Amino acid sequence: MRRRNFLLLSGTGLAATGLAACGSSGGSGSDGGGGSDVEVFTWWAQGSEKAGLDALMEQFEKDYPDLTFVNGSVAGGAGSAAKDMLQSRLQAGDPPDTFQAHAGLELADYIDAGQLEDVSSLYEEYGLTEAFPDDLVQLLTVEDEIYSVPSNIHRSNVVWTNTALLEAAGIDPSAVPADVDAFIADVEKAAASGVTGLSVGTTWTQVNLLEAILMADLGSAGYNGLWDGGTDWSGKDVTTALEHFSALMELTNSDRDGLDWTDATQQQIDGTAAYNVMGDWAVASFQQAEWADGEDFGYYPLAGGDEKIFGFLADSFTLPVGAPNPDGAKAWLDTISSQEGQLAFSLAKGSIPARTDVDTADFPAYQQTAIESYAADTICSSLAHGAATPVAWLNQISDATSKFTTGASDVAGYQEELATIAESNTSA
Ligand code: GAL
Repeated sequence: MRRRNFLLLSGTGLAATGLAACGSSGGSGSDGGGGSDVEVFTWWAQGSEKAGLDALMEQFEKDYPDLTFVNGSVAGGAGSAAKDMLQSRLQAGDPPDTFQAHAGLELADYIDAGQLEDVSSLYEEYGLTEAFPDDLVQLLTVEDEIYSVPSNIHRSNVVWTNTALLEAAGIDPSAVPADVDAFIADVEKAAASGVTGLSVGTTWTQVNLLEAILMADLGSAGYNGLWDGGTDWSGKDVTTALEHFSALMELTNSDRDGLDWTDATQQQIDGTAAYNVMGDWAVASFQQAEWADGEDFGYYPLAGGDEKIFGFLADSFTLPVGAPNPDGAKAWLDTISSQEGQLAFSLAKGSIPARTDVDTADFPAYQQTAIESYAADTICSSLAHGAATPVAWLNQISDATSKFTTGASDVAGYQEELATIAESNTSA
């Protein structure tokens, strides 16, 4: 097994998003190594996520008119269905030409299984080492090799609000709660006004909520310590965070387990839920619904005190071993990493470019805040989106979370289980 030397992404000011240079890194097209079809495997199958993928596809068709984009998307937010299907295909020797993954420890599983090609030569060829922030390149580097190319950066720890419902409940929509207790008090107030306080969906969205609470309550040092043995999962701070999680889950919609993130966000748009905690792909849904930023909806990172934290994740694309059309996959990696590709995708998807040389002056107000925050705040790797842990650890946390939120364990049992899971994953 390869030694894992991924670093947890932490620190401040990774990206100073600057002005654009010009020109596409696109090429003349290639059908070498497997015909003209290029199968791109993602979980961006619906709504605003599909709009993001469509934007990339259009850019790809412009850059490589001789190649044919084949949409291999599998519905289910956060790859909840796609990842298992991908694993079966990889094990059966039937890889797509390229697939979506997250920068960070999620990639370790694929690398350890020998399922990915080293694409570091493309970093030289396409000038990516200079275009991406150093810390991101470092996060992606394993023993001098790099196995994926990022398309964008998302933020995971955002509270989204329905302004009208907050006002109806007597909550000042422009006031940001100082800590998680204050946030819970607001959600309680909203729920008391007769709507769902906080909308949530199936297990992975609950884990997304959990990670935002852990970041806020433990702070960056405490949160990062959860993944390297530095923070005691049995400690008092974790108990407080789990109690907060429990209190918030009490204020959620009862149909949650059958819903994806899109449905939970839709409840806000439909005016039946006041709050939602979700990654910033949610802003693309508000934008699609033509909701006015600051008037119809608002947002703020869930805070636990003075520290400002950016919950980090980056979508990235790979070249699987045995891809039928490796040249086609390299062309896709070229498009998604180009200035034009990163601009088009993030505008549609609610994310920010991973490149530091894209002109983002015309980005919507929300993305401007994310750009600023990514440059200035403390970065913590997302749990729910593959940055903080390998897939197996996340899956175990998800199972324990589902047990808890469906009533099969209490806070003490949940915490004990999470501590045991951490123990087995850090002692290996
Ligand atoms: C994340 C992914 C995002 C978004 C989200 C919801 O894992 O990185 O791009 O698609 O899932 O599906």
